[in-house]
Amino acid sequence: MKFYSVKMRASLNDRHVSGGERITTEESIQKVVSELLTRPKEFDFVNIKIEKINNIKFIEKSLDIKTINVKNHKEGNEIALKLLEEVGIDREIAKAYIDLLHTGANPDRENMRGAMIITRSGKRVEKDRYRGVRTTNVDFLHREEVKKILLEKKYTERTLDALALSTKNLNHPDIIAEYCISDQPDYTTGYVAVNNTYYRINPLKEYSNPKGGRIYFVKDDTDIEELYKYLQEESFLIKEVGSLE
Ligand code: COA
Ligand code: AMP
Repeated sequence: MKFYSVKMRASLNDRHVSGGERITTEESIQKVVSELLTRPKEFDFVNIKIEKINNIKFIEKSLDIKTINVKNHKEGNEIALKLLEEVGIDREIAKAYIDLLHTGANPDRENMRGAMIITRSGKRVEKDRYRGVRTTNVDFLHREEVKKILLEKKYTERTLDALALSTKNLNHPDIIAEYCISDQPDYTTGYVAVNNTYYRINPLKEYSNPKGGRIYFVKDDTDIEELYKYLQEESFLIKEVGSLE
């Protein structure tokens, strides 16, 4: 079967405001384009990119999802640090970079356009500290079915997309963990992905904070060129959703 990648990105006043992607069959391209176009609420530029995928790979199951509700973002981050410690990431190293994410991780102390990459021993190794690295080219094989399952359990489409992205990340043997908070000031739920589980932590950031981003924690001997290629270029479809709590 032939698969196509369909990507949408929108900006307003030269600022990225919305992005999304699908991996779909030829017959569904038009439908998917229309759906993606409903995403940005306001824009002055939209780019739609459609590419045939030559070498699609499959991941059998997504990460499992667990939700942790906490009193406030401080408690949320304590739990995040414990989860990261469990996979051998030093508490002080994790805390320093998490604090940076909450206050602006690019050199101008604004948000990055992608993720930071931090090694286990605490080195920051993404190639460009404004851009970071963006994970793309991933979707669920039966997206609509998985979406229905998630919505029934009161999860959102945002979780569906983040779960796909995070599943691709943790499928790489050198990525140990991911930490994520949105850059939207009113969206305070974040997640930590470790040990084949997507821990949705509510809240993980302070309400009204416009800062956000992602941290990928990697092994010390990670080949960064290869990692960029994997995250940005290799295409994956996820066959099934993991267990939901
Ligand atoms: N944040 C800020 N700026 C972004 C951006 C983002 N998330 N994505 C794209 N841009 C802007 C940047 O200026 C970028 O230039 P840069 O590469 O120097 O940073 C420019 O748009 C072009 O980016 P490019 O990566 O070529 O865009 P694209 O047309 O390939 O689209 C997206 C990429 C938006 C689809 C992808 O980045 C994304 O975010 N995908 C969503 C992932 C996802 O949810 N997957 C799960 C699906 S189930
Ligand atoms: P979002 O999940 O869209 O709220 O994005 C939160 C933050 O994650 C952004 O501010 C970026 O720093 C980063 N980000 C956005 N898209 C990606 C991506 N595709 N891969 C990695 N990081 C991303």
